[in-house]
Amino acid sequence: MEKKRFGNKGPLVSEIGMGTYYDVAWIILSRIGILRGKNKKIEAIKTGLRGGINLIDTAELYGSEPLVAKAVSEFNREELFISTKVWPSHLKRDALLRALDNSLKRLNMKYVDLYLIHFPNPRIPIQETMRAMEEAVANGKVLYIGLSNFNLKQIEEARNALSKHDITAVQLEYSLLNRKIEKDILPYCQKEGIALMAYYPLGHGRLAKDKRKFEPFIKKYGKSQAQIALRWLADKYYVFPIPRASNPIHIEENLNASGWKLDEADTKQLEYIFS
Ligand SMILES: NC(=O)c1ccc[n+]([C@@H]2O[C@H](COP(=O)([O-])OP(=O)(O)OC[C@H]3O[C@@H](n4cnc5c(N)ncnc54)[C@H](OP(=O)(O)O)[C@@H]3O)[C@@H](O)[C@H]2O)c1
Repeated sequence: MEKKRFGNKGPLVSEIGMGTYYDVAWIILSRIGILRGKNKKIEAIKTGLRGGINLIDTAELYGSEPLVAKAVSEFNREELFISTKVWPSHLKRDALLRALDNSLKRLNMKYVDLYLIHFPNPRIPIQETMRAMEEAVANGKVLYIGLSNFNLKQIEEARNALSKHDITAVQLEYSLLNRKIEKDILPYCQKEGIALMAYYPLGHGRLAKDKRKFEPFIKKYGKSQAQIALRWLADKYYVFPIPRASNPIHIEENLNASGWKLDEADTKQLEYIFS
């Protein structure tokens, strides 16, 4: 698994990450302690870790923090890059710091590498939230600050509200099926040195199911459509796809999205086919 710099402020991180959002039913059941398919999901995360993935994405919402805790328990914490997210109802200072402590408890960790605001909340001044984020950094509980589902104006407002630190990463939907961020946020992040975590990198699984549009590339590179779709993202400067990791077989496959490149003409052709 190759590593690349997580924006111009972050460390070297595996170019492919792992997401741990399962589904709404899973989240609801997890609240009453039912963790369906828990062992297989933990095994999937471990498979990725053994294969060299060190970037794991979770959120207080997902119910998957305890699974991440279990999966990483035999690995060296210092070598991992764990991101979790605070839900928009917890963006006031006290609520954010409490939510962070609760995430750390569930993760069984002293700090998270990246703490992201899951969605903006226009009812809470961004200045208050970003001050709380900086407090969390000062307390050593967060190493880097990030934003998810913010538009460009909101990203700029959040950056302006920070006094000592900057945004290290944003997390947004990005795949061959949804390239909206290429208009504004992606070039902005690449210019400003902000890492871009691409969620739904497989179009929530759709890209992995239908191989028709990938046929010529499957033949040429000897890779699957999922690997090609992930490679297309990972080839981009500062972009880190975070496909979901719940099946070890899929993770094995996704590990081989690393270590090679699509050539420029094929990248253009692929983009044309999906445009
Ligand atoms: N910030 C946000 O608001 C936000 C929103 C959505 C998601 N996310 C993050 O992004 C992550 C990824 O999103 P996602 O999981 O919804 O979408 P995704 O990664 O695009 O697609 C996941 C689906 O693809 C399947 N899959 C993965 N690798 C495959 C392979 N090699 N071959 C065939 N199928 C494969 C998965 O199956 P298996 O599970 O069976 O392996 C799952 O059904 C989430 O887990 C979460 O961490 C963030």
